[in-house]
Amino acid sequence: MHCSTSRSLLAAAVLAAAQAVAAQAPSAAAAATPVVATRTANIAPANATPQAPMPFPAVASLKPIPSSVMAAYTNMPTLWPDADESKGPIALDSLLAAPLVTAGLAKVTAMVDPTLLALKPSIRNGYQSETLYQEDPVANCFWPTNQCHTPSLTTYKYLQPDVVACIDQSTLGLNYDDGPSGPTGQPSQGNETTLALGQKLQSMNLTATFFVTGGSSFYNPDALQALYAEGHELAVHTWTHAPMTSLTNQQIVAEILYTEAFIYALVGQRPRYFRPPYGDVDNRVRAIIGALGYESVMWQEAKDLGDQASATPPPVASMVALFDSWMTPQAGYIDLEHSLAAPVNQFAAAILDDVAARKAAGKFVPTIVPVGTCQKKSSYVPLGFALGDVAGVAANSTTPSSSSAAAGATMGSSSVAAGATPKSTAGPATPGASAANSGAVPPAGPAFLAGSVAAAAAAAAAAVLAF
Ligand SMILES: *[C@@H]1O[C@H](CO)[C@@H](O)[C@H](O)[C@H]1NC(C)=O
Ligand SMILES: *[C@@H]1O[C@H](CO)[C@@H](O)[C@H](O)[C@H]1NC(C)=O
Ligand SMILES: *[C@@H]1O[C@H](CO)[C@@H](O)[C@H](O)[C@H]1NC(C)=O
Ligand SMILES: [Zn+2]
Repeated sequence: MHCSTSRSLLAAAVLAAAQAVAAQAPSAAAAATPVVATRTANIAPANATPQAPMPFPAVASLKPIPSSVMAAYTNMPTLWPDADESKGPIALDSLLAAPLVTAGLAKVTAMVDPTLLALKPSIRNGYQSETLYQEDPVANCFWPTNQCHTPSLTTYKYLQPDVVACIDQSTLGLNYDDGPSGPTGQPSQGNETTLALGQKLQSMNLTATFFVTGGSSFYNPDALQALYAEGHELAVHTWTHAPMTSLTNQQIVAEILYTEAFIYALVGQRPRYFRPPYGDVDNRVRAIIGALGYESVMWQEAKDLGDQASATPPPVASMVALFDSWMTPQAGYIDLEHSLAAPVNQFAAAILDDVAARKAAGKFVPTIVPVGTCQKKSSYVPLGFALGDVAGVAANSTTPSSSSAAAGATMGSSSVAAGATPKSTAGPATPGASAANSGAVPPAGPAFLAGSVAAAAAAAAAAVLAF
């Protein structure tokens, strides 16, 4: 689990308030055992300065995105959330009222069953990951208490199982959360560590998925472009790294879409995948993510490296030994690693040295690919892409009664149910209409920054813009 104990960091007053609210909640009996996970930077800022809207970072080395590509993105923000995640989730009215968010929320409201949208947010303890769940964690497939990945699909659209495994045998979907080089001490940490990791992977002819936050990307936009140019897969890990179940529907939309828009502004692509911080996800979050056209990627609990779980870092050798123990023939798997500031990136680097040593010694090494490749899907999708477009998800509001059948359909099929897209505003009727979503083969490389501007622009232009 993504978890350690650090109760001393909790603000007693906030905890008391949370307990008071929970005691009043009708469904308090169902409240989950709180889960605590620590990211060392994410400490309650008793005297934090207020959030401030940020202009796009003025970094001279950034490669500009052609105006035609930029123009394809409807409601591109002009101001961005505060990049300092320790100030909490996006809460500024001006940012929440931006057209990006209002249009996104309108889309979610039109698409998602109101019963799901009405589920109560959990209560966050200060700025920690701990959440006190206020609904039934079993019925709502709240991962932190149940490690539930597969919602019991009965009547809801846009609700799909988490992605937790790779399709092919002995394949690892290699991925790193929280970068580029976030979040301790930003911006003074600079971008060196994630850049070095990206380059190390490249030197080994490997690519990986980077679940980036908007905050980390804001401080290190050139590192984000570098990762993309090296062929790594970029995916959304929210702007502020708040536990998603603790947020309002509007805030969830804002966390995803500001991060999406920022990635688009830097590389001209819209990611397909999302990872919830701390694994804090329930059916409300899954449905909102799905309506916005994202698939939620978790990891196998037994494949959590635990590389950032404590203020006292574990020895590098123990991290390497743990990862090494996973390199056996087995069903395809997705792990959990991080690309935070040192020392976490040192773990990743040492692990890659071990992978290289195993290869050199002729020992078994799994096929190591980004998550999209291990799902046999593209890393990026057209603008306006919605869950109705996602392969195998039933268009029908009556989804398959067997959740395992639904899971299988999501993993395997590339077909799209006709009528999957909601009425007038959603994405292309057939995802295959866009080269960016042409099925099994991920983009060969960094199409945009490598110079295939025309391809990126065509993909953007082909998309039907919904918000
Ligand atoms: C990030 O990396 C690039 C490329 O190495 C470098 O030019 C830039 O100054 C770095 N930015 C920061 C904030 O460290
Ligand atoms: C990476 O690929 C290149 C080109 O195919 C090859 O020359 C090089 O040896 C490879 N490096 C590693 C570490 O596999
Ligand atoms: C939609 O649901 C109904 C009722 O369960 C079922 O009869 C029908 O076949 C479904 N249609 C599709 C396209 O799945
Ligand atoms: Zn994270």
